[in-house]
Amino acid sequence: MSHPVDFNDRMLSLGLARVSEAAAMASAKLVGRGDEKAADQAAVNAMRDQLNMLDIQGVVVIGEGERDEAPMLYIGEEVGAGGGPAVDIALDPLEGTTLTAKDMPNALTVIAMAPRGTLLHAPDVYMDKLAIGPGYPTDVVSLDMTPKERVAALAKARGCKDSDITICVLERPRHEDMIAELRSTGAAIRLITDGDVAGVIHCAEADITGIDMYMGSGGAPEGVLAAAALKCMGGQMWGRLLFRNDDERGRAAKAGITDLDRVYSRDELVTADVIFAATGVTDGSIVSGIKREPTHLTTETILMRSKTGSVRRMIYRNPIK
Ligand code: FBP
Repeated sequence: MSHPVDFNDRMLSLGLARVSEAAAMASAKLVGRGDEKAADQAAVNAMRDQLNMLDIQGVVVIGEGERDEAPMLYIGEEVGAGGGPAVDIALDPLEGTTLTAKDMPNALTVIAMAPRGTLLHAPDVYMDKLAIGPGYPTDVVSLDMTPKERVAALAKARGCKDSDITICVLERPRHEDMIAELRSTGAAIRLITDGDVAGVIHCAEADITGIDMYMGSGGAPEGVLAAAALKCMGGQMWGRLLFRNDDERGRAAKAGITDLDRVYSRDELVTADVIFAATGVTDGSIVSGIKREPTHLTTETILMRSKTGSVRRMIYRNPIK
């Protein structure tokens, strides 16, 4: 009789760091080369090879897309060497393909792992996101508040003026009204061109990054990855899926989602203990980007476990073969 194997997050976490390191190193030579697709493909190949060496029975629940559109690391793909615990995997082999192609800050390789059935199977649609760092009362802000109300509530909880709050927002035409409303409060806005996983993570280290709150819509898969990171670092997050057409609603149905208006809290996006690793591809405020010497590559990885709240930053110097 076979017995389920425990999710030994402590043992698995170093393996997870290797996976994100490998993806970053593979994309190193494509930083600043203007080729998003090639950079992504290199990261995907390396991430998949490394994942298949891990002693897990993994299923990709957040991946490169549906099976018919992504040949590798598609949603539902089984990964791992086949032994070990049954796990869900959420990944983005290159979060910030354009950032990588243009050598702009905060491109990361990202992966999270949790016991089977505990990561939201988010369809590839947009998600309205709101996140803050640790130390605030539960639900001090909410997706149902206006942007102005969120700033006022957070400022009150922090004991500061509205103008002392900094919000991170993806710079997109769809956010113009929200940005105008935020500006009317006197708050500062850190606009990013891409990479909202990093945008959300910034809230967890507000003293270092200067960012108090993240808001706006971005990819739903990235929302689950960001929730996994915040579950490890502390902080609150909420997400609501956004649908633009029937095709997108169909994607939700396929993922088993019936309540299309539901607001998911951080712990509903990620319902059990999770491990999370991200490696810098380009320099960023969370980790440094890849350093290239003639003979070596050096990466920095952030590796975290929600069970302990431990956050490791690991430097890896590896000879170029
Ligand atoms: P890619 O790495 O797939 O290019 O995604 C980058 C990203 O900026 C995400 O961080 C974000 O969630 C999403 O794109 C936003 O989507 P859009 O560019 O359509 O606004």
